[in-house]
Amino acid sequence: MEREDSREMYNDIDFDKIDINAKPPAQEPDRQYYYIAKCRGWVQEFEQKNGRRPCFFTQTFGCQMNAKDSEKLAGILSEIGYRESESEEADLVLYNTCTVRENANTRVYGRIGYLGNLKKRKNREMKIVLCGCMMQEGHVVEKIRKSYPFVDLIFGTHNIYKLAELLYRSLNSQRMVVEVQEDAERIVEELPSELKFGFKAGVNIMYGCNNFCSYCIVPYVRGRERSRKPEDIVSEIETLAAQGVTEVMLLGQNVNSYGKTLAEPVSFAQLLRRAEQIPGLKRIRFMTPHPKDLSDELIEVMSRSDKICRHVHLPVQSGSSRLLAKMNRHYTKEDYIALTERIRAAMPDAAITTDIIVGFPGETEEDFQDTLDVVRRVKFSSAYTFLYSPRTGTPAAAMPDQVPEEIAKERFGRLVAEVQKTSAEFARRAEGSCREVLVEEEASSGLVTGRLSDNLLVHFPGDKALLGRYVQVKLTECRGFYYLGELQPDGPCPKES
Ligand code: SAH
Ligand code: SF4
Ligand code: F3S
Repeated sequence: MEREDSREMYNDIDFDKIDINAKPPAQEPDRQYYYIAKCRGWVQEFEQKNGRRPCFFTQTFGCQMNAKDSEKLAGILSEIGYRESESEEADLVLYNTCTVRENANTRVYGRIGYLGNLKKRKNREMKIVLCGCMMQEGHVVEKIRKSYPFVDLIFGTHNIYKLAELLYRSLNSQRMVVEVQEDAERIVEELPSELKFGFKAGVNIMYGCNNFCSYCIVPYVRGRERSRKPEDIVSEIETLAAQGVTEVMLLGQNVNSYGKTLAEPVSFAQLLRRAEQIPGLKRIRFMTPHPKDLSDELIEVMSRSDKICRHVHLPVQSGSSRLLAKMNRHYTKEDYIALTERIRAAMPDAAITTDIIVGFPGETEEDFQDTLDVVRRVKFSSAYTFLYSPRTGTPAAAMPDQVPEEIAKERFGRLVAEVQKTSAEFARRAEGSCREVLVEEEASSGLVTGRLSDNLLVHFPGDKALLGRYVQVKLTECRGFYYLGELQPDGPCPKES
């Protein structure tokens, strides 16, 4: 059966008509529809017994891919009949975990301990569910089995589509249910998904990563690179646009290698061209391109487009060519700077942001000076800076010359100070001007937050009636990496503002 047909089918599914006394179908996604129906039966019983529907709480750690997965998980739980709760005092608590750095793991362990207490004191029937990248690591699952036996259900990144089936097993078992798959057997997509914001959405264009940067755990926990077919992506965006979404973020660990392994190869730039044609869409963003293969074709498509946002998040990781080679990044300091110059030449107003790791094994003061030099020369509009964190099983974790923590922390402080200087410089350029923003959130005390095409934020007086709207805002005051502003009357900005 064609995927397209199946998606149509999902919208038409009448879960009450599924025979839950029959044997479970072997085919996906029918098998999951069957288990959703079975779980709905359980929810009905719960409601009769307790006089209310059960509620769930999710917390997502990590990147946009995990955020997207959580929307799918929440979609399945809602379809089953759970209500979403704002608090962890819920009937089901799900943590979608990240393991990219050790501190992500530490936070999760802390939260599980807290949940254990909550379960003991307040609700012994509470289901504690852990999934995501951390669960793909055998040593993590071992630790949870030993130290947190009150956890009910564990699954990994490759079988999130099976939530209903696994939950049904857990609801009928007193023991911990664990199902972690080594690799993605298939992509199952014709399942419900919930949108965190009604007007913007992430769209997976590919899964996994083949780059094996020597410090990074992602290829081990997310598996090999798999691109979705362009027609599936376009049809998902069309559906989203029809529901009122005006901004999409195309997601992949290395979007530049999108489409290379498809039966009919398509480049990322070609995919962007197709996305641009979709009516109703106003903004297109993407994350993350890899500097080693960001093509001139992509720069050209971006520069000609009035929908693709003026923002390139281009992780540099280090400014030292010597370290970049050890990191397996496949570019040099000079390549990186030349690439940013090409981007700036084509789009002078574009923001370039980055990720930087400090304290990679063997990093000397000279290597670090190269990183500072790149920051000064490229003038990033912002940078996520990370202390190197050894990840079990990655080549870098076994490298000699691990940098002592005090040295790494001292460099980290100097790097952050340098980044703040260049980001303030970037933001100041637009101070006093008038820009179109998408109003995304209510900030505190009568303020709302809007996002500019270049990803900077502006807070200005307004209320929730503005959420999801595109409005003109005068950027009256630059506060380092964000602005304070004033809403302009309807219509375009005055020329001289
Ligand atoms: N696919 C993206 C990034 C994914 S992880 C890319 O290639 O750019 C997000 C960021 O976490 C990375 O860019 C890197 O800066 C950081 N990171 C990854 N592994 C890390 C580690 N072991 N220690 C510290 N930072 C790390
Ligand atoms: Fe990790 Fe490198 Fe893949 Fe990014 S490209 S996810 S840093 S291995
Ligand atoms: Fe973390 Fe997994 Fe993303 S390890 S950064 S949540 S892909």
